Order: sequence, then structure tokens, then C-alpha cells
Amino acid sequence: MDEKISIVYQGKTYESPVITGTKNEKAFDIANLRKETGLITMDYGYQNTGSTKSSITFVDGEKGILRYRGYPIEELAEKATFPETAWLLIYGDLPTEDQLTAFRRLLTENSLIHENLLHFFREMPPSAHPMGILSSIVNALGLFSPRFYDTENQAGEFDLMVAGLVSKIRTIAAFSYKASIGEPFAYPEADRSYCSNFLNMMFSSHTKPFVVNPLMEKALNTLLIVHADHEQNCSTSTVRMVGSSQANLYASICAGICALWGPLHGGANQAVLETLLRVQKSGMTVKQVLERAKDKTDPFKLSGFGHRVYKSYDPRAKVLQGLMEKIFSHEDNQDPLLDIARELEHQALSDDYFIERKLYPNVDFYSGILYRAMGIPTNMLTVMFAIGRLPGWIAHWKEMHDDPCSKLNRPRQIYMGEKERHWLDREERA
Ligand code: CMC
Repeated sequence: MDEKISIVYQGKTYESPVITGTKNEKAFDIANLRKETGLITMDYGYQNTGSTKSSITFVDGEKGILRYRGYPIEELAEKATFPETAWLLIYGDLPTEDQLTAFRRLLTENSLIHENLLHFFREMPPSAHPMGILSSIVNALGLFSPRFYDTENQAGEFDLMVAGLVSKIRTIAAFSYKASIGEPFAYPEADRSYCSNFLNMMFSSHTKPFVVNPLMEKALNTLLIVHADHEQNCSTSTVRMVGSSQANLYASICAGICALWGPLHGGANQAVLETLLRVQKSGMTVKQVLERAKDKTDPFKLSGFGHRVYKSYDPRAKVLQGLMEKIFSHEDNQDPLLDIARELEHQALSDDYFIERKLYPNVDFYSGILYRAMGIPTNMLTVMFAIGRLPGWIAHWKEMHDDPCSKLNRPRQIYMGEKERHWLDREERA
């Protein structure tokens, strides 16, 4: 049965069809609301606003379900490689053997960045935040391939652009780390997997050969997969917002990286680790951390807790719990921050404030501790999120580009400022 919603305003009736999704989610279509009634809707933070129809990722925040193109995150985390997951998100299906081989070849052939770009790394102050470096260099990558700015070429050479970005982002991330510690760059090697290559570029040096630990390689693969997409989150919506003006993919991704940087979004993983370190070093107790988080006069929040969509345990955090058991069951891999994190989780989950508001650990709560076990420094944690999220951003940019219903994203506002007034010369201003 076709459902409809009616709004009556000043004697005029606006009737809208109800849009129903694959999993029976419902939306009220307001496309002609303003034209027919003069009204717009108001929704701070877009808590109730759908910006698009999408076939990429399904999230059920009440039941804690996450699926990429229909595949449960738990299955992908166990069985897929990150390049396979990237392909799935961007092209819509798991790759065949031939498609995966061709994609891997493209990743290998496009792993290097133009030598001129190396100056960027060397000229940045050592204190520069790696997210700032990453966003700047991703934008600059486009300058070295201006033919991709042309929409026609974007369609024809999309595969090349995708492989270039997915491959180069890990090179940029590793080079920014090497530059920050004043070591020479370690270049990507053709015979390594995506994750092994990244770890090798981060930690190998001429004086210190690096052997990639297969457990850490597998853990990195899982971490990147669980971060790979999360439907219309802040950074993905930013990519779509910028892309809706027909800005090129590099500029759109650059904007997405900047949006991810903030502590309410991807920057939360760095903030979690900083909180844990503060507890460890300053002697602040877990109880004091929770009291601060609950205090409405204090801007401090418990990073890694709460989510706009999940009102139950974040399924990505559950996958990471399993990963932690594997990693930290080894005697060599112990981290006192893990005990602090577990105590924080335990106390928060039995505290009325967190129970009433349905605040559970999100993906950022434990990811930092896992990355720390690999030797990734705290200020690189959000960069790791960006490497993982890149396929999702690209998939959404492509979906928006291919969708004939797409429009320039341009919200409206209700103006609350001064009515018309007129210029006063300086001496007339009281
Ligand atoms: N610590 C303390 N209180 C919190 C927290 C928290 N982490 N999260 C939410 N609350 C409170 C909030 O103050 C509000 O209380 P009240 O109803 O008394 O005003 C209530 O819970 C509802 O929160 P909200 O801020 O209205 O909900 P939201 O959907 O706008 O916020 C959020 C979602 C993720 C911004 C928020 O939970 C938060 O700030 N969490 C900490 C930052 C974080 O971990 N971000 C990463 C999210 S997961 C990775 C990603 O996809 O980005």
C-alpha cells in the first residue's frame, strides 16, 4: 500500500509519499514542501534529515548492525582483504579473481607519489599535525593529474584515479611520519600486501631492518575494513557536499579528511588515547574522568563513547574487542592503557548517566590501543582512520556523481538577524 503523509498549514495541505528503504526505513519526502506551503524544515545537526538514497552501507543503530553492500561487517573483517573491501564499496560487488588481480596491479603501479611532492613533507614543521599534511598532499595530488579535473576524463579514467588514491594515501601517511621523525622515506615494495607495505614504510630504515609481524598485518587489515564506510557520517557528507558542486575527487576527499579530523568524529581516537594517558600519568582516577564527562558545566566528553546512530554496542567496537583478545593474549604485547580502558568501559556501562543516554563504546574507543600495539604514534591515529575511510568516501562521491537525482547541496536557513538598517558614518555611531 502506498503510504502518504499530510501536513496542513494555513489551510493548505501538503501531501507527501513515504519513501521506504530496503530494510523498511521510512522517510517523509519534502522535496516540494517550500514550493507548496512556504515552509522549510529545521533540523540542527541533521538528526532527522536524509540527504540521499544510497545503496552502499546499511546501519541499524538500535540492533547494532553494519553491512557494506549487504555483507555483514563481521564476515568482511574475518575473511576479506582491505583492497577487496575497497573494491566492494566502490564498485558494488566483491571482485572476481581477475578484477582483484588487476586492482592489485594498479595499486602497485600507482603507489609512488611525484618526487616534487616530497618537498612538501620536508618543508612542513616537524610539529605539523599529520592530518593537516595528509589533507594538503591529497589535494596537491590532484595538481599532478589535472586531467582528472575534467568530468569526462573522470568517467574514463576513474579506475586509475581510485587506485592512485587508495594506494598513495598509505605512502603519504608513512612519509609524513618519517618526515616528522627526520628519517629517510622507505618506499613501497611491489611484492608486499597493502598492509605489510604500509607497516614496512612506517618502520623500516637503512639501519634497522623491519620484519612485519603477521598478527599485526592481519590486525591492520581488520582495522581498515571496519573503518571503510559508515554511510552519511560527517566526513562522508562533507565529501558529498563538496562533490555536489562538481569539485574534483581530490578536493572532495581533502575536505572529507579535514572533517574527519575533529574530535567529535575521527579525531576521537586520538582524544581517547590522550585521556587514557592522562589517567596513567597524572593519577587522575577513572571515576574522576567519568564525573567530568557527566558534568554539564565542563566541555569535556568521554571520547570513544556515544554515537549519533548507534544506541547499542557499536558492531565495529565488538570486532575490535575480538582483535584485542588475540593481540593482548601474547605476553609480548601488554599495555597498561588497556586496563584503564577496560575499567572506564566497565564503570561507564554501569553508570546511570551512560545507561539512560544509551552511550556505548564506539569504534574509536579501542582502535587507538590496537594501533599503539603496532607502534603507530598517537598523532597518527586519525590518519589511520582516514586510510580506512577513503574507499567509503570514493564510493559515495561516485554514487552521487552517477545519480541523476543529485543536486547542488545547498541548505536553507531561518534568518534571525537585524532587519534592514542603513550605513552610519563613524562619528554618528554612538
Ligand atoms: N560523554 C559524555 N556525555 C555524552 C557523550 C560522551 N561521550 N556522548 C553523548 N553524551 C550526552 C550528551 O551530552 C547528551 O546529554 P544530554 O541529553 O543531557 O544533553 C546526550 O548524551 C546525547 O548526546 P548528543 O551529543 O546529543 O548526541 P549526538 O548524536 O549529537 O552526539 C557524538 C554523538 C558522537 C558527537 C557524541 O556521542 C560524542 O561527543 N561522543 C564523543 C566523541 C566521539 O567518540 N566521537 C566518535 C564517534 S564514532 C566514530 C565516527 O564515526 O566519527
